[in-house]
Amino acid sequence: MRSLAARSLALAVIAAAWSGAAWPDPARGADPPDLASGAEPPDLTSGQDVFEEFCAACHGYDGIRIIPQAPNFSDGESLEQEAALLLASIRDGKGELMPLWSEDLSDRQMLDVLAYIMTLRRPE
Ligand code: HEC
Repeated sequence: MRSLAARSLALAVIAAAWSGAAWPDPARGADPPDLASGAEPPDLTSGQDVFEEFCAACHGYDGIRIIPQAPNFSDGESLEQEAALLLASIRDGKGELMPLWSEDLSDRQMLDVLAYIMTLRRPE
């Protein structure tokens, strides 16, 4: 069970990143409509489902990487960058091994899973 504090922090970070202005891709045109309006906060239960189905094979269920090229979300280091950048990596992929997810996940699911990975951070 993750701490309430970790959850609230994750949600605050994501909510801040999720204002329309933070959506980082001018080439994509308009902000994703369901997100730019900022109406719904991320759903961590959905985020966990997405993570366990699509991400854990490389990133590990507890955020401790399975493949050596993947960042450890558990130590939190890779999560220190702006949430909008993390989101862009999820959406568009990164490097040679991180797949893009925009074709398989909705904007809402990408937001949810981003919020979830923020909760995998473990203090030393
Ligand atoms: C096939 C293995 C694989 C899968 C599946 C995968 N990732 Fe990744 N992911 C990687 C690798 C490897 C990197 C590091 C890419 C790089 O920096 O070159 C990465 C990087 C990332 C980053 C950027 C971290 C940083 O330090 O910039 C995020 C965020 C991320 N993954 C989230 C996810 C999410 C969310 C999912 C599921 C929807 C997912 N990944 C599925 C392998 C994977």
